[in-house]
Amino acid sequence: MKTSGNTILMTGGGSGIGEALAQRFHDRGDTVIIAGRRRDALEKAAAGRERIHVMTLDVEDAGAVDAFAKQVVADFPALNVLFNNAGIMKYEDVTQRRDLANAEATVAINILGPIRLTNALTDHLVQQPDAAIVTVTSGLAYVPLVMAPTYSATKAAIHSYTVSLRTQLAGKVEVIELAPPGVQTDLTPGQAHRPGYMPLEAFADAVAAQFLQQPTPREILVDEVQFLRQAEREGRFDETLKTLTERAAQQRAAGGD
Ligand SMILES: NC(=O)c1ccc[n+]([C@@H]2O[C@H](COP(=O)([O-])OP(=O)(O)OC[C@H]3O[C@@H](n4cnc5c(N)ncnc54)[C@H](OP(=O)(O)O)[C@@H]3O)[C@@H](O)[C@H]2O)c1
Repeated sequence: MKTSGNTILMTGGGSGIGEALAQRFHDRGDTVIIAGRRRDALEKAAAGRERIHVMTLDVEDAGAVDAFAKQVVADFPALNVLFNNAGIMKYEDVTQRRDLANAEATVAINILGPIRLTNALTDHLVQQPDAAIVTVTSGLAYVPLVMAPTYSATKAAIHSYTVSLRTQLAGKVEVIELAPPGVQTDLTPGQAHRPGYMPLEAFADAVAAQFLQQPTPREILVDEVQFLRQAEREGRFDETLKTLTERAAQQRAAGGD
């Protein structure tokens, strides 16, 4: 991905990781369109930044995704980067029958969202010079957080999807995976202040530095996520699963949630 002068569509750009990265990209000279459901959050994130533009979008709504894609290409014909960042995370107790509304929404937003939006923009992106697609997965794609089974599974799915996209689109569109560790955002209640999670600004700085490397690494991995990313490869999956499960319970208890 170019290190400046891109036109980037950032889903979920009104808060957290998407907001922080949109601002980093804007600072280095990119134009960024931030998209999400809450217009007020988007406008707050864009305030005072002339090359951050706001568009509302619900990636769960298939029809809206198609209409949105047509509009964004019409309004920003130089669009060359799709950053699939929007996502939700819910804790689930799977030990008894439950309502699956949260699980189904997680699949719709975290898996179908990026699949649909990527599909809607592929014909445009393959025509663009320096085109890139970034998918935001998670360290939990590699070792699940057992309290969030559907969420972890959606991230594993998008990791796999990203590998196939990268291979099919080779030579046409660069495909990059960003797999964050636990970062202090409002993704789950109490997480913005949860001990042991990476501060958002430090995470965004580390990621922005990796996006300056040429060529861009195909996986953007900060040091804090490597214990999850490399667990299987290094033959310590079971041990890491146990550590992660215990640590998550301790962190939530220490954070008072
Ligand atoms: N923070 C972490 O520890 C962590 C770790 C690994 C991966 N991640 C991933 O990083 C990404 C960003 O999360 P975050 O931590 O920055 O949390 P966040 O602040 O809650 O950001 C999620 C963003 O997604 C948007 N979004 C959710 N559902 C949407 C929908 N149906 N349509 C359009 N936009 C939607 C939200 O905006 P609206 O509510 O306005 O729609 C919000 O801006 C997610 O994919 C998450 O899974 C986060």
